[in-house]
Amino acid sequence: MTDRYCVFGHPVTHSKSPAIHAAFAAQIGEALEYTAIEAPLDDFAGAWRRFVAEGGRGANVTVPFKEEAFRLCDTLSQRARRAGAVNTLLLGKNGLTYGDTTDGVGLVRDLKRHGVTLAGVRLLVLGAGGAVRGVLAPLLAEGPASLRVANRTAAKAEALAADFRDLGEIAGGGFNAVAGRFDVVINGTSASLAGDLPPLPDELFAAGATAYDMMYGAAPTVFLRWATERGARPVDGLGMLVEQAAESFFQWRGKRPDTPPVLEALRASL
Ligand code: ATR
Repeated sequence: MTDRYCVFGHPVTHSKSPAIHAAFAAQIGEALEYTAIEAPLDDFAGAWRRFVAEGGRGANVTVPFKEEAFRLCDTLSQRARRAGAVNTLLLGKNGLTYGDTTDGVGLVRDLKRHGVTLAGVRLLVLGAGGAVRGVLAPLLAEGPASLRVANRTAAKAEALAADFRDLGEIAGGGFNAVAGRFDVVINGTSASLAGDLPPLPDELFAAGATAYDMMYGAAPTVFLRWATERGARPVDGLGMLVEQAAESFFQWRGKRPDTPPVLEALRASL
C-alpha cells in the first residue's frame, strides 16, 4: 500500500502543502499519497486516529490545530517542546505518535537562502502568537546581537520573551516601545491577512535591512510595501512554507528535497 500523508487544517481546501509534497515526491522518486483533510474543530485527536487506522504514516498540522497536535503526541522533539506546538506528526514503528515543529527551521533556512545572516544582527519580531512562539528558539540559536518581540498586546510579548530568556538576548513589549534601527524585521502577526499594518516608527530599518513577512500572496503584503518604501529588502513567507515542508518531508522519508525549483513553480502559480 502507498504510504499516506496529509495536512490537517480547518479550513484546509486552499492549502498548498499537497502540491508541494507531490512535487517533492516526484523529484525524489518516492511513491506516496498526500491529501488535505479538514479535521473537525472539536476532535482533532480523533481525526489523527482515524487517519492512522486507514494507513496514515504522518501529517502536517496547520491552523488551528498545532497546539492540540502538541498535546496528543507521545514523544516530542526538543524544538516542538519549546514551541508548544507541532506542525509535523509521524507515526513510529512502535505505533507511538512523534511530534516535531519545522516552522522555525523553515524560516531560518529561507532567510539564509536569501543571504541573510542572523548572527550579530539586531532582530525585531512582530507578533506574540503561536506563529512567533514557534520560531523564536531557532532564531535565537543563530546568535543575533539582540531580539526584540513587539506586539499589539504588550504583556503577551513580555511573557513570551521571558519564556525564551535562557536562550539569548531577548526582550518584549508593545509597538510603542520599539526604538532604534533593526537589521532584520520579521512580521509574524496575522495583521497582513486583514491588510493591516502594525503601528511602527518610520525610522525602523538599518542600512541594508531585510523585512520578512511570514504571510505571502500574489501581491506584496502591506507590511512589505511599507518596508520597501523605507529602503528595506522585502521577502515574503512563501519560501518558509516550502522549507518547513521540506524539513517535514525529511522527517518522514529521510531524504531532503531540492527546494528552489518547487518554490519557483509555486510562485508562478500564485
Ligand atoms: P498565529 O497562530 O498566527 O500566531 P495568534 O496566536 O492568534 O495566531 O496570534 C496572532 C498575532 O497577530 C498576535 O500577535 C496578534 O496580536 P495580539 O496578541 O495583540 O492579539 C497579532 N495581530 C492580529 N491582528 C493584528 C492587527 N490587526 N494588528 C496588529 N497585530 C495583530
